[in-house]
Amino acid sequence: MSYDVERIRKHFPALTEGAAHFDGPGGSQVPTVVGDAVARTLCSAIANRGSVTAAERRADGIVVDARRAAADLVGAEPEGVIFGRSMTQLTYDLSRALAKDWGPGDEVVVTRLDHDANIRPWVQAAEARGATVRWADFDPATGELAVSAVADLLSERTQLVAVTAASNLLGTRPDVAAIAAKAHEAGALCYVDGVHLTAHTPVDLRSFGADFYVCSPYKFFGPHLGFAAASPALLETLHPDKLLPSTNVVPERFELGTLPYELLAGTTAAIDFIAELVPGAGSRRDRLTTSLRALEEHEDTLARRLEAGLRAIDGVVLYGSPERHRTPTVLFSVDGVAPERVYAELGERGVNAPAGTFYALECARHLGLGDTGAVRAGIAPYTTESEVDKLVAEIDRIAGEHA
Ligand SMILES: Cc1ncc(COP(=O)(O)O)c(C=O)c1O
Repeated sequence: MSYDVERIRKHFPALTEGAAHFDGPGGSQVPTVVGDAVARTLCSAIANRGSVTAAERRADGIVVDARRAAADLVGAEPEGVIFGRSMTQLTYDLSRALAKDWGPGDEVVVTRLDHDANIRPWVQAAEARGATVRWADFDPATGELAVSAVADLLSERTQLVAVTAASNLLGTRPDVAAIAAKAHEAGALCYVDGVHLTAHTPVDLRSFGADFYVCSPYKFFGPHLGFAAASPALLETLHPDKLLPSTNVVPERFELGTLPYELLAGTTAAIDFIAELVPGAGSRRDRLTTSLRALEEHEDTLARRLEAGLRAIDGVVLYGSPERHRTPTVLFSVDGVAPERVYAELGERGVNAPAGTFYALECARHLGLGDTGAVRAGIAPYTTESEVDKLVAEIDRIAGEHA
């Protein structure tokens, strides 16, 4: 069976409001099954995790199921999945745990392509330990981050390389596997931000060579939380600050306080929903791969249509044109019209494509867009061809009116 966008759209109550949602890179809309799973969990008999009462067993089962689902999505082991409030919070926590072993003379590498959540926690952790930060630059003309841009910064003192699997501003997908291999050759760990990528393609943590892979279910139909995946053996070597009475087992010792059971149930439902985008047989991991391949094809087709439409308009500037396959995320501006104005005018006409830097502040500055950024349009699993045509027509009108 092929990708049927109209069938998929019926699962999203939010779409009945009528807006065309190009704001998916900021967070996707949510299918009914996910909302139902959250509400059902909140309203069912539930207690803290345990094995004595049915309520305790329910909470425990929800956590175990969510770890399995998250592991299936990114190709990890369930025992290596850590849930947290957000990718940002998890990265701060993990950076502090990892930095306990750093000292003066040690180095960490961050990139200007990254969202600030995969930069600042490392910069601040390095500062706190007297370690040095090395910055890898991407090519502002193409949006590409060359492997050599990272490799040239590595030394025997490099402790960690933090790199994005895909830029939330430009859609660039660096060659993470090659970067991770270089990091490992230097004896460093590789921490990969998968928040933007995971919504758009099948992911395999192992083939990336990522020591940590972090993402946020609210970008792919789920509730607002994050998870990090790593090998349980690596997690065993880390000792985060934690409460005395809380368990010291992995991965629980990284999860501070009580887990949000309802959001975990929603996460499992979201991952099951992705696995059913294109109904098929096989394990959940197999179905996720099949569905995400079909989704990627659908989104790529629409992204090419959007790019071609925008390129044909006088006065529209598109940023980044990487040769490598990128996510269906397009960053652009209209000559003579502030991005905020384009965003507002589109919004008035039911087209949601926000403007800004989207916390990829270093990236926007390196592109010459300062702290203002540009307009970002992301294709989502529920985006249709006619929505793309509507966005292009509206930009054509705005560019024409301001020419
Ligand atoms: C690429 C990327 N990394 C990190 C984040 C931060 O994720 P969270 O909101 O879960 O902290 C975002 C959020 O937009 C993102 O797009």
